Amino acid sequence: MPKVQNWRGLIDNYRRYLPVSETTPIVTLHEGNTPLIPVPTIAAQIGRQVQVFVKYDGLNPTGSFKDRGMTMAISKAKEAGAKAVICASTGNTSAAAAAYARRGGMRAFVLIPDGYVALGKLAQALLYGAEVLAIKGNFDRALEIVREMSECYPVTLVNSVNPYRLEGQKTAAFEVVDVLGDAPDWLCIPVGNAGNISAYWMGFCQYHQEGRSTKLPQMMGFQAAGAAPLVTGHAVSQPETLATAIRIGNPANWEKAIAVQDSSQGSFNAVMDEEILVAYRMLAGDEGIFCEPASAASVAGLLKVKDQVPTGATIVCVLTGNGLKDPDSAIKFSENNFKQGVEPNLETVAKVMGF
Ligand code: F0G
Repeated sequence: MPKVQNWRGLIDNYRRYLPVSETTPIVTLHEGNTPLIPVPTIAAQIGRQVQVFVKYDGLNPTGSFKDRGMTMAISKAKEAGAKAVICASTGNTSAAAAAYARRGGMRAFVLIPDGYVALGKLAQALLYGAEVLAIKGNFDRALEIVREMSECYPVTLVNSVNPYRLEGQKTAAFEVVDVLGDAPDWLCIPVGNAGNISAYWMGFCQYHQEGRSTKLPQMMGFQAAGAAPLVTGHAVSQPETLATAIRIGNPANWEKAIAVQDSSQGSFNAVMDEEILVAYRMLAGDEGIFCEPASAASVAGLLKVKDQVPTGATIVCVLTGNGLKDPDSAIKFSENNFKQGVEPNLETVAKVMGF
């Protein structure tokens, strides 16, 4: 019998691991339950019988992993009677905050760095009905402002400093273990504000304590070279990378990230924009998986440190956002010179095709 699962969102599925009660109003778009897809051409580049999977979190309802955190943060905000939420964002958080806040009947204020948010993300925030302020400053500055706003005005902060965000996001680790039957040996993940790496680690630890896995993964975090404070050990005042989602110079979850690195025997490494693009094109062109540039940093990073991969390891790379978020980058960096202005007749078409 073919089986179709009635998935009603991650709070419904992982309720016993989450800080919700019978009376919490659940605001959900049925997020989570995203596929773990084998990527054999990437495994082949490493060799040594490794298995590599991608956790394709770009298939969440608003196209990124932020939905996992937002279903929790918005449900808890609603439970507390909030009428408005606020966040700073490089784009994905704003889209998710807008979608869930509006669904929950709240206002959503979002501060974004003017000119550095991918087109799809801006389109989403606008259509979902967020009140969007593009500020003449970067993400780090925007985060400082929204933190102060939430202290002085009746708006709930839904950036990843909100603990409910991490609670929701930790369910991605549960899903990985539920599908693999154990934790992977390595978890490769792009790092910006370092919320997601902290959330995954929480999830892996919780499942391990419950005896649902026999081991814990080494957490391998990757930052863009122009925005790599966790690699260099000091904040970057002017972060730069084409992976705008992770264009962050002073991660809010800095201490948590260092604790994850230490307790998992993992590491932080930097990847160059050019390496990110190679992985971005490889995922799409060789595996049929379209992610946004920041997400490709996890695979770029894995390839960069491939000599350190233990023989026979199981590796999961997190693909945090959908490629459709950033159509401009796809067209700009595709290296695919498509034929334009072709005469509409069979002869020309066949000729151009090389027949
Ligand atoms: N990948 C994508 C696609 C992201 O949008 C982000 C963060 C990250 C990775 C890094 O996750 O911050 O938890 O380490 N985006 C935030 C935003 C900053 O505003 O959308 P992190």
